[in-house]
Amino acid sequence: MPNTSLDPHVLVIFGASGDLAQRKLVPAVFDLFRGGYLPDNFALLGASRTNFSDDDFRKKVVYENEFFEQNDATDEDVKAFSQKLFYQDLATYDGEKDMKAMSDRLQQLDKDHGVGQNYIFYLSTPPKLYSTIPGALAKAGLNENEHGWARLIVEKPFGYNEATAIQLNKDIQSHFRENTIYRIDHYLGKETVQNLLVTRFANGFFEPLWNRNYVQSVQITAAETVGVGSRGGYYDESGAMRDMVQNHLLQVLAHVAMEPPIRADAPSIRDEKLKLFKSLRAITKADVKNQVVRAQYTQGKTKGGDVVSYRDAPGVPDDSKTETYVGMKFFIDNWRWAGVPFFVRTGKCLPMKLTEVVITFKNPPQALFAEFDDFAMGCDNQLIVRIQPDEGMALQFGMKVPGEGFRVKTVDMDFFYRDLTKNNVPAAYTRLLLDCMKGEPTLYARGDSVEAAWAFIDPILEAWQNDEVPLYSYIAGTWGPLQSDALWKGEGSGWRNPTDTLTEKKHYTKL
Ligand code: BG6
Repeated sequence: MPNTSLDPHVLVIFGASGDLAQRKLVPAVFDLFRGGYLPDNFALLGASRTNFSDDDFRKKVVYENEFFEQNDATDEDVKAFSQKLFYQDLATYDGEKDMKAMSDRLQQLDKDHGVGQNYIFYLSTPPKLYSTIPGALAKAGLNENEHGWARLIVEKPFGYNEATAIQLNKDIQSHFRENTIYRIDHYLGKETVQNLLVTRFANGFFEPLWNRNYVQSVQITAAETVGVGSRGGYYDESGAMRDMVQNHLLQVLAHVAMEPPIRADAPSIRDEKLKLFKSLRAITKADVKNQVVRAQYTQGKTKGGDVVSYRDAPGVPDDSKTETYVGMKFFIDNWRWAGVPFFVRTGKCLPMKLTEVVITFKNPPQALFAEFDDFAMGCDNQLIVRIQPDEGMALQFGMKVPGEGFRVKTVDMDFFYRDLTKNNVPAAYTRLLLDCMKGEPTLYARGDSVEAAWAFIDPILEAWQNDEVPLYSYIAGTWGPLQSDALWKGEGSGWRNPTDTLTEKKHYTKL
């Protein structure tokens, strides 16, 4: 049942005329509205530099928004929702006049709609404003007020490296208390990422195997078919390492590899993640070329059709060295994982869109049936966790093929999310916004762990400044550069070739 006990509040979105508000945020708030989660006294106040009236804003983010899905909602529902949307234009985001106008508008909304003095401020602006807006809010007294609460959601990227992340934390924390700061990482809002914790810690039989005694390797793949599209300007400053690995994939890794928390609450889970990030063995600058492969896509064909090379994408310089693919190998220095290699890869313009985690278990000590089959070393015992799409899990193991001798065939035991519930799995932003409205920070990143994640990534980025570390290329629509396969030398199974669906065996790239 929906939680109708949320406090009345206003969700203020800075940068509301931008892409994210249209694509994700407003549709997510509509989901909450339709699900009966929002309190009656709720308002969404968009704020940005574009000059809009309330009605212009409603048109843009609801009526003319291609990402706003009405589904089976009635026109009345949509109208009732849009009446909760308001807009405030700002000259600079941080001027005193602007914040005074914002503060007056919030008071007016309270008078007219009884939305109280509880505020969520969502920073969906260019990152350079992430420290200035909280300062301006504080000057206007909107960071704390005696009649209500104030929470701040900060979009990614949180910093550009460790030093800037530390500085950003300092800047924001000087105006907002840590327990009111919500650093968003939308991968944490994915049900299947959260389910990693349930799989591991709600079952007795996975955990005893989940360590260096039984696990041969762990691999995480986040593949995308899209290129950079019109985001070249942003992406070229960022690259796959900053865009995907430092945040989303290290968060997935933390769920796979952290120790059991003492309780299922925010401090306990976040403490364990921090410990995990601190246990990542630093990849020294000298090791970068052996453990990390970077590459850029060239012209090719993906599921979406013909793709121009990354350097020809709008907003990307002709001589760009920004990576659109990263493959890496690293280790975790703790008792559980000592000696187990972890592999992570992500890239744009790959053959399919999928995110999955594969745990490969060690072979049995004796290859008893080797003479009957090709399985000289046993068969691949893998647990495949599909984060998206076709969400689910498959456990692969060997079974005897009926007939003479002992021929072994790998079979699957599988589970699909769609069999668990008829309800739609909530979108990541829907879940995360609801959590913030409740004051529940577990699925948001804590300041110290963001810094620790950067500390692991920084030496790699620094080594890449140096031309001695090659930047490879791969044709759009392929699985990345061959050099990435070499990371597995001496470590066994290699990258799993994902299939279109979780358990399909025939082929893995349908173009
Ligand atoms: C975003 C990145 O954070 O995550 C994008 O900026 C990327 O470049 C996206 O495409 C991937 O998210 P998802 O949920 O589609 O896997």
